[in-house]
Amino acid sequence: MKRLAVLALVIPLAAVADGKGSKPDVSKLPLPAARPVDFTKEVYPIFKESCFKCHGAEKQKGKYRMDTREGAFKVTEDHGPAIQAGKSEESAVIHMVAGLVDEMLMPPPSDKPGQSEKLTPEQIGILRAWIDQGAKWPDGPIAEFVKPVTFAGDIQPLFAKACAECHSGAGAKGSFSVESAAAVLKGGANYPKPVVAGDAKKSTLLAIVSGKDEDLPAPDRHKLAARQVELVEKWISQGAK
Ligand code: HEC
Ligand code: HEC
Repeated sequence: MKRLAVLALVIPLAAVADGKGSKPDVSKLPLPAARPVDFTKEVYPIFKESCFKCHGAEKQKGKYRMDTREGAFKVTEDHGPAIQAGKSEESAVIHMVAGLVDEMLMPPPSDKPGQSEKLTPEQIGILRAWIDQGAKWPDGPIAEFVKPVTFAGDIQPLFAKACAECHSGAGAKGSFSVESAAAVLKGGANYPKPVVAGDAKKSTLLAIVSGKDEDLPAPDRHKLAARQVELVEKWISQGAK
């Protein structure tokens, strides 16, 4: 009887170990960024935006807390080290953000649009490079770094993709062009000066890209993803430079 009980214990354990043995296929990972990566400016903001809601001071889903160094470097029970300094391809965090672990895509998908967006290949590349470069995490509290949002660096590329097909050149709809910061600030025939620098709430452009302006045609073409709306909002709040 005693022996049977021991066997019964051993078998399921072995089965579990085997099941987890199937290693994630790291050949599918986006490549690490080929440059030195700064933790405070580039990595921490990604964690903050996409992870702390569930793995921060308030909640620790899966008993994982990643706003502290001790917490972030946890060795998980089933998936190995969360962050293995020097080896991004052996770090569970990387496997999970890239969707290589069954049922463990991080952040987990959400039905609500804009609530939980997958990390981009570029963001995964930044995290990989940081880990490969030694996963340095400075001592003490993180000095939060606010990256300035600029027209040339952030807004123009976004509008070129989302708006330029209808809002550039001679036939720009509503005489509104996104070709330069000056043109955007000038506005169009019905919405002159759609940007109030420093005051996102008073800016009709923000209402338009948030999908809150129902008078415009093609509302789905005017509504940007939550992350992009946030970028436009930051650009305006920071003075629309
Ligand atoms: C909406 C909530 C949510 C967000 C946002 C989120 N996670 Fe998770 N995470 C979870 C839940 C829930 C679990 C536990 C899942 C399970 O065990 O089945 C988990 C588990 C994990 C684990 C495994 C921990 C362990 O000890 O097994 C890691 C690693 C992880 N998450 C990393 C991340 C990273 C990195 C991000 C941001 C890019 C992130 N998560 C964003 C909900 C979230
Ligand atoms: C598929 C074409 C299309 C796309 C893509 C599009 N728009 Fe428009 N937009 C229009 C049309 C049509 C109007 C109405 C023009 C009119 O009133 O004659 C308009 C009107 C506008 C106006 C008001 C112009 C004025 O003063 O009359 C603004 C501002 C604007 N769009 C911004 C944007 C932004 C920002 C984007 C990208 C996020 C975008 N649009 C994407 C077709 C488009």
